[in-house]
Amino acid sequence: MAEAPVGVFDSGVGGLSVLGEIHALLPQESLLYVADCGHIPYGEKSPVFIRERCVAVAEFFREQGAKALVLACNTATVAAVADLRERYPDWPIVGMEPAVKPAAAATRSGVVGVLATTGTLQSAKFAALLDRFANDVKVVTQPCPGLVELIETGHLHSDALRTLLRRYVEPLLAAGCDTLILGCTHYPFLKPLLRGMIPANVILIDTGAAVARQLQRLLAQRDLLASGPARPAQFWTSADPQHFREILPMLWKKSDIVSSFVR
Ligand code: DGL
Repeated sequence: MAEAPVGVFDSGVGGLSVLGEIHALLPQESLLYVADCGHIPYGEKSPVFIRERCVAVAEFFREQGAKALVLACNTATVAAVADLRERYPDWPIVGMEPAVKPAAAATRSGVVGVLATTGTLQSAKFAALLDRFANDVKVVTQPCPGLVELIETGHLHSDALRTLLRRYVEPLLAAGCDTLILGCTHYPFLKPLLRGMIPANVILIDTGAAVARQLQRLLAQRDLLASGPARPAQFWTSADPQHFREILPMLWKKSDIVSSFVR
């Protein structure tokens, strides 16, 4: 069982930012990745719809013999992680949420900005996170509709992306934020573009590396860490596999086995 693969899932290519962290920390693990690109963006969908998609993907990973599931998506986590844990009580499931706690510790201005999807920012889980960790700082939230769709095109330096990103970031800088939480797994791919539009002292925080460490902990607790060697990563997408094959080398340089995910 320890040599079984880990299933990693996002609405699209965003979770590849997490997949990279998992591979860096746990190179001996075999990885399966589903990009539900046919239903993107999750950020503008209902929690009920997202839960249905998460169950479809979870069932698929279980058929593939996955020993653990990583929800490499903040929006899917707030909508579905509790439901999935209830359905599969013995299956290690790692979710992710915006890094409010480390950001509250890192800020010097006392003002933290959160870039995330509408679904994440509107969720009760996010409100609870603020209640728990953000009492001593001011948090300014910025939903970012449209950003994920532009990232999915693979053109990470397009004028359209730069313009939209600037529109979302400027109010946060104007509000005095010196720490920005990248609360969607697509956004770490925007770091080069972001760096060009924010002062050098502004800190960017995402949770990919912490998710990889949490996966390591959960697998270790259950004696499920693989000894390797890992099999090549495998990818499935619910949209056009050819498009995914084209953008994969830009975001994940290690494999190009892409198949269709139909559920
Ligand atoms: N990557 C996802 C997240 O972390 C959301 C993308 C979407 O809206 O589909 O929230």
